Amino acid sequence: MVSYKELGLVNTKELFAQAVSGGYALPAYNFNNLEQLQAIIQACVETKSPVILQVSSGARKYANQTLLRYMAQGAVQYAKELGYAIPIVLHLDHGDTYELCQSCIEYGFSSVMIDGSHHPYAENVALTKKVVEYAHQHDVTVEGELGVLAGVEDEVSAETHTYTRPEEVEDFVRKTGVDSLAISIGTSHGAFKFKPGQKPQIRLDILAEIEKRIPGFPIVLHGSSSVPPEYVDLINKYGGKMEAAIGIPEEQLRAAAKSAVCKINIDSDGRLAMTAAVRKVFAEKPAEFDPRKYLGPARDLLKELYKHKNIEVLGSANKA
Ligand code: G3H
Ligand code: 13P
Ligand code: ZN
Repeated sequence: MVSYKELGLVNTKELFAQAVSGGYALPAYNFNNLEQLQAIIQACVETKSPVILQVSSGARKYANQTLLRYMAQGAVQYAKELGYAIPIVLHLDHGDTYELCQSCIEYGFSSVMIDGSHHPYAENVALTKKVVEYAHQHDVTVEGELGVLAGVEDEVSAETHTYTRPEEVEDFVRKTGVDSLAISIGTSHGAFKFKPGQKPQIRLDILAEIEKRIPGFPIVLHGSSSVPPEYVDLINKYGGKMEAAIGIPEEQLRAAAKSAVCKINIDSDGRLAMTAAVRKVFAEKPAEFDPRKYLGPARDLLKELYKHKNIEVLGSANKA
């Protein structure tokens, strides 16, 4: 058993309390490799933003959980080397079993998500409560989820949204003891969140209704990439094929960040930025074969994206 405290990481408790009262949201960026982690830490140090590093089950399979944990531990030192010790949370994204959450906590994660949203309500409550009981013994914070996002979450996919029912949130939070709640209000995972011709619109009215039931309680938004058209255009220009990719308008996320939404999950936008930069190098310099020559520009574009998010969308800049 390794405590996250020995690694220099923090849980979400204090950070969320500050974000809710300060009217901003923390960035929750997924990472699977060195360049993504470097970009996240550089961007968050330069903007003086606290950050949540997210590891999905897919990331654990791809990169190895031991390596990812040591990388997060290294990130704490790296931030100091860069000149500013920002608070760093290491979070399990979409944990689907008690055993997985327990294993991550024993590995040094400071926060876990138990995603019981695909189960019937009573089962979701029971599973989430069990994780909370274990996590809180170790001062690890827990995110639960109510409502189902459309799209793909790891191996689970749903055709349509099941919006969070505001009348359930109070009971769920009380019975489970969770520290934060992910809700479904029209965001979805991936780069194809809306169909062409559809108005990209999340249900801020449901968010307001939820906030009325659990005032000041930390709310989380998944599936919050904006799918910037400039990245999609670059990808298509340099040989990619991504038609009709549409995300959540930034101004809607900005509005959400001012409310009790205190954690906003962004993964796909980073994937798009990296892919655009790599494709550009491959198209313009076909003889290049040093990975640093295409992963370097990918890292640079990613860093710019994250700085933009922290400053212009989440409002987390200068909150560290
Ligand atoms: O919610 C999904 C995240 O974007 C992680 O995606 O499971 O492909 O690593 P992944
Ligand atoms: P996006 O696919 O919109 O980036 O969402 C990521 C996410 O919710 C990770 O849990
Ligand atoms: Zn998610």
